[in-house]
Amino acid sequence: MAEELTPETPDEAEEPIKQRKNGLYQGVSDELAESMKSGWADTELTGLAPIPQAERTAARRAALSARFPGERLVIPAGNLKTRSNDTEYSFRASTEYAYLTGDQTHDGVLVLEPTATGHDATIYLLPRSNRENGEFWLDGMGELWVGRRHSLAEAEQLLGLPAKDVRELAAALAEATGPVRAVRGHDAGIEAALTDKVTAERDEELRVFLSEARLVKDDFEIAELEKACAATARGFEDVVKVLDKAEATSERYIEGTFFLRARVEGNDVGYGTIAAAGPHACTLHWVRNDGAVRSGDLLLLDAGVETTELYTADVTRTLPINGRYTDVQRKIYDAVYEAQEAGIAAVKPGAAYRDFHDAAQRVLAEKLVEWGLVEGPADRVLELGLQRRWTLHGTGHMLGMDVHDCAAARTEAYVDTTLEPGMCLTVEPGLYFQADDLTVPEEYRGIGVRIEDDILVTEDGNRNLSDQLPRRSDEVEAWMAGLKG
Ligand code: GLY
Ligand code: MN
Ligand code: MN
Repeated sequence: MAEELTPETPDEAEEPIKQRKNGLYQGVSDELAESMKSGWADTELTGLAPIPQAERTAARRAALSARFPGERLVIPAGNLKTRSNDTEYSFRASTEYAYLTGDQTHDGVLVLEPTATGHDATIYLLPRSNRENGEFWLDGMGELWVGRRHSLAEAEQLLGLPAKDVRELAAALAEATGPVRAVRGHDAGIEAALTDKVTAERDEELRVFLSEARLVKDDFEIAELEKACAATARGFEDVVKVLDKAEATSERYIEGTFFLRARVEGNDVGYGTIAAAGPHACTLHWVRNDGAVRSGDLLLLDAGVETTELYTADVTRTLPINGRYTDVQRKIYDAVYEAQEAGIAAVKPGAAYRDFHDAAQRVLAEKLVEWGLVEGPADRVLELGLQRRWTLHGTGHMLGMDVHDCAAARTEAYVDTTLEPGMCLTVEPGLYFQADDLTVPEEYRGIGVRIEDDILVTEDGNRNLSDQLPRRSDEVEAWMAGLKG
């Protein structure tokens, strides 16, 4: 068994901080420094209720502990990343850390310390700023600049696990002995402290376990996904209401409108919004969003609100910008709709994960043969994968805290598995006819259609969590007409 980690208490009498990192506070008089030390109320909070998911996070840690007995497990939240000079990108805690703790603060680290019977979990966090040495107001991370943090005692009450000062953790980890695994890619300082103690292969086993643990969602997670989908539906409505402003400006108006909803109702967007008007719909990862929005074209909007607890929706609608599909747009749209219906019908407990993809692809292959774009029969097309020139991507993926959730799961636990109640996945077939594709009739060129919904596997079938938004072409038109009033 590994020895216990014993970070030292930070030295209160350390050198006073003389200036903020950007140098704004050079030349602080002794009188001012003295003044800033005192005269502040005690704001310590007591009697705090645990966060709503505290019991779930404890159960998740227990499952992790059972999988890796006798080993120290290190799961960092991650650090701020510099954008430029002294400004940082907005921070989003690592999925693994947030899943196991419910906490989202930067620099936090969860450590599971092996014991004779399992593990003791401790969360390592930045404590309140020291006022005595000036850190509070002279350090760039001082609370005067970045806002009040929870004290370690407050964090313990909220998260339901002991909290210690993270500033001493790297040194303690570097000294410690015994087997250890860490989640990589989030905290370079912690990784440096563990360099000689971990291997990529063993760390990958930890990452795989934490990915597979998230395949089946608990009731808290399902409620979060419902919230994400409801907020996303409102974001799509917001967009429809401002399509005239987007026409006067660009796709950015659509991106910005959706972002407002994401920030007001949630934490952020769960991935870069794809606001693709006209032929941009055929570029799968169109996130530049700087193109023109024109009446008569389609808008492919792929966007999702991420909730404050970091669960995201992933929804696509392909809308006629002027409110009415042309005949050829409708023909292509209705084919994708039919494929999506077939895909959603294949989502049920006990079905193979691949079934929904196969069902949707078959419909699309049949349409492509029917339209004379590829020589049939559909079985031949599917066997040779010829439909993929126009379908481009898989029909869906797991959804949760990450938009492409559980991505480190093994093939046998994900794409080769059978569906179980509590799994949530997207069903998102599409057809994309590139503007320069000479193998299709000219009228098809530049049309891209995807319809994407978030489907929860239930005991007796499935539930479409994003069904607040219409999908059938005539229902989309009626919905748009109602919103534009
Ligand atoms: N928005 C990313 C995806 O649909 O997978
Ligand atoms: Mn998706
Ligand atoms: Mn999507």
